Amino acid sequence: MNHSPSPRLGARRLLGGFLMVPALVLGFSIQGCQDESEAVVNVYSHRHYDTDEALFQRFTELSGIRVRVVSASADELIARLEREGQASPADLLITVDAGRLHRARERGLLQPVASELLEEAVPADYRDPEGFWYGLTRRVRIVAYARDRVDPDLLQRYEDLADDEWAGRIVARSSENIYNISHMASLVAALGPEEAEAWAEAVVANFARAPQGNDTDQIRDVAAGIGDVALVNTYYVGRLLNADDTESRELAQGVGVLFPNQEDRGAHVNVSGIGVTAHAPNRANALQLMEFLVGEEAQRAFAEANFEYPVRPGVQWAPPLQDWGDFRSDPLPLSRLGELNNEAVRIFDRAGWR
Ligand SMILES: [Fe+2]
Repeated sequence: MNHSPSPRLGARRLLGGFLMVPALVLGFSIQGCQDESEAVVNVYSHRHYDTDEALFQRFTELSGIRVRVVSASADELIARLEREGQASPADLLITVDAGRLHRARERGLLQPVASELLEEAVPADYRDPEGFWYGLTRRVRIVAYARDRVDPDLLQRYEDLADDEWAGRIVARSSENIYNISHMASLVAALGPEEAEAWAEAVVANFARAPQGNDTDQIRDVAAGIGDVALVNTYYVGRLLNADDTESRELAQGVGVLFPNQEDRGAHVNVSGIGVTAHAPNRANALQLMEFLVGEEAQRAFAEANFEYPVRPGVQWAPPLQDWGDFRSDPLPLSRLGELNNEAVRIFDRAGWR
């Protein structure tokens, strides 16, 4: 939905569906050559970063367990797990948003796991209360604003976006997007459904244009003057600030990052996360890889690859995140975002946020 497929995905599909960590790729096919005694773990992941592959290689060096990755969009991976059922070779699902992890759990695609290492590394707010999924990285839904046209003092809370001050100045993506749905779920939890709906109606009335595009497009439209403010995830700003092309980097310099609700409940935080699949053939190996990914070394690399915050406390942040500084985050347990998902969708519908 939000992460465009990797251009390398086509080539990966030629390898019988699985991508081996590159150094291990020779001679492998999922049907044919698997040595029964070989230790493996099969990961369905929405992520497609070279640094992830390097991390998986490191895990293989340490554990002797080979990591094989299918990478596709989160929705494709969930559909695939449903289709494959008990026959699925997948051991782990890595995807984004607590709302979506909750969906995977609800559809019976995950199983609970627990370990001391996981519970120590992942704060309770960032994992399923019964261990069906654990957060790996955190991202914050912030206000991206045009530095030359917006006084950030006028915009301290998400709630302020409902004010007349922002008439014709807000750009937004579709309410079908899981980030918006989870954010709305957090507003329902904080304000109650009626106030949350009134907020959505007022924000819709303040739109500069109909919802369209992804988070990057919202930032670009703020920079281009189509709107002045947008709700986006932090890492999209980080990506533009570190883009290969000068145009993107310059554009991002003109856009400020504002963490809302710092004087009250805190900014809305979500996670990318991982869960053991319901029928994992290599459950013990899966648990070992999960524990590795919440370790200090992996946490730093995993989060840095996408300008996200490590879920593990005390791990160093990537440079743009350090510049934005510390912030207060909404302590709402993320499992609530999934539970309030349907209500959030109905509110968006009634408010006319397409
Ligand atoms: Fe995203």
